[in-house]
Amino acid sequence: MSLALADKVLQTSTPSDCVQTIQFFNDVLEGLNKPQKALSPKYFYDDAGSHYFDEICKLKEYYPYRTELSLLPQIASELEGLLGSPCAVIEFGAGALAKISPLLNNVSAIKHFVPIDISGDYLRASTALLKERFPSVEMTPVEADFTQPVALPALNGLQKMGFFPGSTIGNFTPDAAIKFLRNAAETLGNNAFMLIGVDTKKSPNILHKAYNDSLGVTGDFNKNVLTRMNCELNADFDVNCFDHYAFYNPSEGCVEMHLVSQCAQQVNLDAHTIHFRAGESIHTESSYKYAPEQFTRLVHEAGWVVNKQWLAPDEMFSVFLLRAQ
Ligand code: AVJ
Repeated sequence: MSLALADKVLQTSTPSDCVQTIQFFNDVLEGLNKPQKALSPKYFYDDAGSHYFDEICKLKEYYPYRTELSLLPQIASELEGLLGSPCAVIEFGAGALAKISPLLNNVSAIKHFVPIDISGDYLRASTALLKERFPSVEMTPVEADFTQPVALPALNGLQKMGFFPGSTIGNFTPDAAIKFLRNAAETLGNNAFMLIGVDTKKSPNILHKAYNDSLGVTGDFNKNVLTRMNCELNADFDVNCFDHYAFYNPSEGCVEMHLVSQCAQQVNLDAHTIHFRAGESIHTESSYKYAPEQFTRLVHEAGWVVNKQWLAPDEMFSVFLLRAQ
């Protein structure tokens, strides 16, 4: 990183934001120098990106959000019986915190809620709103990157349940998903539960529409990572010279999102220059889809067992309750 950028970062952010920006810079430089340029989807979620994602969740084409949400009241009423003792829920990648309300409404055993998110200001604002609605539940927001091991606050004596809704696990490759679940078993401890939402394999036409919405919100969400690099890393991407491109890859079983350069161009990133050929892409996200039996096998490899599974009509979405072995 150049002295000029380092100076700007130090002047404008808190120490923990500085560390995040340096990490972002290093990841971007590495990712954009690969033969297939790539960025981690976790970098979508600055404040603007988190808001774009909330807009995606309101789209009629984007079925995962509302389908999972519609399953949660029923799941919550069954959880009330399944989780006997007082418990703490640890949510990975909490975002707008829309999914925890049906659980807090129906499961009186939940005494402490620990949302983890990489977007710190957004997380603290949504936690404050949630606390107003559920004043008797203790809440401890943790600003952290859950793809790395996370230190939890003291949760003395409470049964732990991880909560990972929205099919966010789909952003990991299957191998990385196994690693994440193994780490989570370690973080949460023996006998922990994990409630996890997983998008299913289905018609590629339905998948295609979900990631190519008619209002173009998904495209704006995808391109926001370019704007973010411009603001935070002194880059000069011309957002209008990249196309949003998303498609289902049936052999991998995932939706891939890319940003495709419309022309041969050079982009400055701090003191570095990144070259794009016409038609060259940055791979910005993979979103893996699992048939229920496929996900069950993955879970076993990661040291968990399936305690219970719920399927939406037409198997449009699945939710699993796991128990650490
Ligand atoms: C938040 C990772 C579950 O993969 O469907 C939505 C993100 N990307 N539209 C997904 C996303 C494009 C979303 N996850």
